[in-house]
Amino acid sequence: MVAFLEEMLLKEKFTLVFISHDRYFINTIATRTIEIDDFKIRSFQGGYENYLTAKEQLMLGMQKQHDNLLKFLKGEEEWLRRGVKARLKRNEGRKQRVFELRESAKKNPSLIHKMKLELEREKHNFNGDKSLNKQKMLFELEHICKTLGNKNLIKSFSARILQKDRIAIVGKNGAGKSTLLKMLMQQLPIDSGVLKVGDFKIGYFDQQREMLDENKNILETFCPQGGDRVDVCGKNMHVFGYLKNFLFPKDGLYKKIGILSGGEKNRVALALLFTKKIECLIMDEPTNDLDIPTINILEEYIKSFEGAVIFVSHDRYFVDKMANKLYVFKGNGIIEESYQTYSEYLDIEKEIKELENITQNPDSDDDKKQKNKEQKSVKLSYKEQKAYESLPQQIESIEDEIAQIKQCLGNPECYQKIGLLELSQKLTQKEKEVDMLIDELLEIEEKIENINKN
Ligand SMILES: Nc1ncnc2c1ncn2[C@@H]1O[C@H](COP(=O)(O)OP(=O)(O)O)[C@@H](O)[C@H]1O
Ligand SMILES: [Mg+2]
Repeated sequence: MVAFLEEMLLKEKFTLVFISHDRYFINTIATRTIEIDDFKIRSFQGGYENYLTAKEQLMLGMQKQHDNLLKFLKGEEEWLRRGVKARLKRNEGRKQRVFELRESAKKNPSLIHKMKLELEREKHNFNGDKSLNKQKMLFELEHICKTLGNKNLIKSFSARILQKDRIAIVGKNGAGKSTLLKMLMQQLPIDSGVLKVGDFKIGYFDQQREMLDENKNILETFCPQGGDRVDVCGKNMHVFGYLKNFLFPKDGLYKKIGILSGGEKNRVALALLFTKKIECLIMDEPTNDLDIPTINILEEYIKSFEGAVIFVSHDRYFVDKMANKLYVFKGNGIIEESYQTYSEYLDIEKEIKELENITQNPDSDDDKKQKNKEQKSVKLSYKEQKAYESLPQQIESIEDEIAQIKQCLGNPECYQKIGLLELSQKLTQKEKEVDMLIDELLEIEEKIENINKN
């Protein structure tokens, strides 16, 4: 039906305005795409694919603007912190603007972040829709909730995990990451929601190495039925040949698992895992106790593995390399699905935090040190004392003069008598004079403030 409608519409010559959620339909029919989002209407040339590309450009532009804003803001913040001039009445506007810029700079990262997330999800879905049906669905989570103790670990989390997914679960300690893994493996019940698990085998790699029996030797571990051969990815191999890849010497085959070092046990556990015919690999902080050569082996295996990989990790490098999707535990039971790399995610988080700090405590340690330096001369000189007494009156009288000039400038009879040019020159000169005196006064006032503080 949709195909028929498309064909018919494409033949027609009339102008068509339509609302649709069918992205393929939009892509085929539309010559212009209009988006309404967050109180803004934006128009993009072309169909859905063009819209995605243009939106990406828009986002990159926003990012660039934001970077420039940050640079500019840094200068302004410095000016503001120097204090004296910023306190002048006529600089109120500039000061106000700094506050406004701060606010928008604070909002930008999360706005850009949100746009990026949505865009990535959108691109992923749009391109992935066609292949979705071909990929086996392993897990389907609908509004899963979990509380342990009094802690609300997971609040209404929904997701689908497909055959070739590479999912990294990240977030603070105690957030509930291991709990989520356990629920996927059905070792822990969910409190509410629906968890559908397909028919497939899961391989689990944990730090406790529960899969190993300390009393068996290595050969028995790999060949519990006897013999000395193993099947790895459809290839039948001698255990020794296989273990060579894991950097084990031949005479190690008869060593009891119990006497191996932690690192060696990890390697045995990994090697054993790879001999299992599994469709989903679940790992809880796999790289924690692994040395670099063993991590490399693990990475190679994951790359060649056909099934889904779901793992918890704090290892930025490992996550960047291995994951194509993140489940981020944001705290308070919220899990965010993201297609960013972990590094990108962390960078944005850091930026948001830094901007929040600017407003919360404008006086950073560096500034304080700077101020302390400035406060070394802690007494007013005689000249300063005299100036402090006489300046207010001087300022007042020049300000009176300025007011008179301004009044004259508004009255033709008056300005024609003296001359416009002369008046405006005088005004500029008087304004300069008063500025200098105010600066001088404010600097002395600041000094007095510091003296009183110490
Ligand atoms: N059986 C339990 N009873 C009560 N609280 C638990 C239980 N198991 C774990 N927790 C708590 O739940 C929180 C999440 O644990 P976990 O999923 O292991 O966190 P993560 O793996 O993100 O570090 C922690 O605060 C932990 O102490
Ligand atoms: Mg954990």
